[in-house]
Amino acid sequence: MEGVAVIGAGGHAGVVIDTLLEAGFSVGGVFDDDVSRHGTEVLGYKVLGPPEALRAYGLRKAIVAIGDNHLRYAMVQRFPDLEWQTVIHPDARVHPNARIGVGTIVMVRTIIRPNAVIGAHAIINTAAIVGHECVVEDFVHVAGSTHLGGECHIGTGAFLGLGVVMVPGVHVGVWSVVGAGAAVTGDVPAQVLAVGVPARVKKSLLGDLP
Ligand SMILES: CC(C)(COP(=O)(O)OP(=O)(O)OC[C@H]1O[C@@H](n2cnc3c(N)ncnc32)[C@H](O)[C@@H]1OP(=O)(O)O)[C@@H](O)C(=O)NCCC(=O)NCCS
Repeated sequence: MEGVAVIGAGGHAGVVIDTLLEAGFSVGGVFDDDVSRHGTEVLGYKVLGPPEALRAYGLRKAIVAIGDNHLRYAMVQRFPDLEWQTVIHPDARVHPNARIGVGTIVMVRTIIRPNAVIGAHAIINTAAIVGHECVVEDFVHVAGSTHLGGECHIGTGAFLGLGVVMVPGVHVGVWSVVGAGAAVTGDVPAQVLAVGVPARVKKSLLGDLP
């Protein structure tokens, strides 16, 4: 089977490689801009060079293994011609009616309910639950153990920290960050940091756009 190139060699890359292997893919190599990582290994896979080098290894399929949404977005813009691999862990429960976009990774023990729509290059991390009819846009990262009630909407590039709980039907705006452990009981506007129980806007993130 043709290997999948893993772009990014930080901590998140190990989790992505583990998920790729568990899902039956082979890893074609790991690539990273950080020269100090070249020649090192992630889970036994050598970091072969910068992402531009992956074609020299005959690789066409790739996934961006960078947890930071802004950096993942920038990396995807850099390679408009790559074929992005979608990865779903075999122990995830994804309803057949749910849709998952290209380059998105769905980690172990996640549950994705009927008619949920997940965009491209998103991360649905370990044991997260995405309720029925939720819309999770491109480049979102839903961290581990976060629970979205039904019909929630998460805007492009938003980050939901570990263990966030969202009541049904609420919206989080584009490129916003919801701190770990928050309970989202009302809409969160675009480009803000919201924290706490119930979640309250702590500061603006305007200017942080990629
Ligand atoms: C929100 C977060 C991203 C920090 O963002 P930041 O811009 O660096 O914010 P700061 O650390 O400067 O904190 C700003 C304020 O929010 C508070 N705050 C930060 N995170 C908070 C949280 N999760 N819950 C409640 N309050 C929080 C801080 O105490 C601080 O309050 P103060 O201004 O009254 O002192 C971080 O705390 C967080 O929750 N990260 C989630 C990490 C995670 O889940 N990763 C998953 C990886 S898979």
